[in-house]
Amino acid sequence: AAPAAVIVAIDGPSGTGKSSTSKAVAAKLALSYLDTGAQYRAITWWMLSNGVDIQDPTAIATAAGKPAIVSGTDPAAPTITVDGQDAAGPIRTKEVTSAVSAVSAVPEVRSLITDLQRTIAGSAERGIVVEGRDIGTTVLPDADLKIFLTASPEARAARRSGELKGKEASDLAATREALIKRDAADSSRKTSPLAKADDAVEVDTTELTLEQVIECVVTLIEAKIAEK
Ligand code: DC
Repeated sequence: AAPAAVIVAIDGPSGTGKSSTSKAVAAKLALSYLDTGAQYRAITWWMLSNGVDIQDPTAIATAAGKPAIVSGTDPAAPTITVDGQDAAGPIRTKEVTSAVSAVSAVPEVRSLITDLQRTIAGSAERGIVVEGRDIGTTVLPDADLKIFLTASPEARAARRSGELKGKEASDLAATREALIKRDAADSSRKTSPLAKADDAVEVDTTELTLEQVIECVVTLIEAKIAEK
C-alpha cells in the first residue's frame, strides 16, 4: 500500500454491527473493505462440501490449503469465491455458522487466511477497513487505527435475529444461545482468539443506532488521516 494508505482494524463479537459499520465507513471514505469472517466461512463451506470431518482438526489442517479463496474488496459490492464459485449465499447457512468456530480454531487454517489478509491489506491503494476478531491483535498489529465494538448480549441477539428474519426461522432465545456459544468458542481458542488489542478504541454500541456508530468510527478515521 502507498505510505498514505490508512489501515483500520475493526474487531468484536457477532451482533455488534461490525459488518454494517465497516462496509458503510469504507464506502464513505473510499477505502477498500475486507470481511475476514466471510473467509473463515468460505473455507468452512468448502470443508463441509468436500466431506472433511470438521470434528477432526488434523483432517482440517491437511485440507486447509486446497480451496482457493478470493475476496472482492469493494465495500459497495463485496464478493467471495471458492475455487471460482460464488460463495456469498452458502457461507451464511446455519450449517456453516455452526461449523465455523471449529474450523477457524485450527492453526493451519488461521495461518493461511492470515497471510491472505495481510496480502490484501498491503495492496489496498488508499487503505482498507478490515473487520474480524483478531485483526488488531494478530493480523495487522501495526494498523493505524484499531476499533473494538461491543454490545450487551441482549442487543446482539436482537440484531442477529433481525438479520435472520425471513431467511431462516429463528427465535430470540435460540439465537442468543447460539451466539453466546460461538463467542465463547472464538474467545477461548488457543490461536489468536477474539480479543481487544491494548491500543484499540472500544465503542459500546448497545445504546447507539447504526448511524451513530458509523459517524463515530468515521470521525476516528478522519482524525487518523489528518495525522498522517
Ligand atoms: O464475523 P462472522 O460471524 O462472519 O465470523 C464467522 C466466524 O469466523 C466467527 O465465529 C469466528 C471466525 N473468525 C475468526 O476466527 N477470525 C476472524 N478474524 C474473523 C472471523
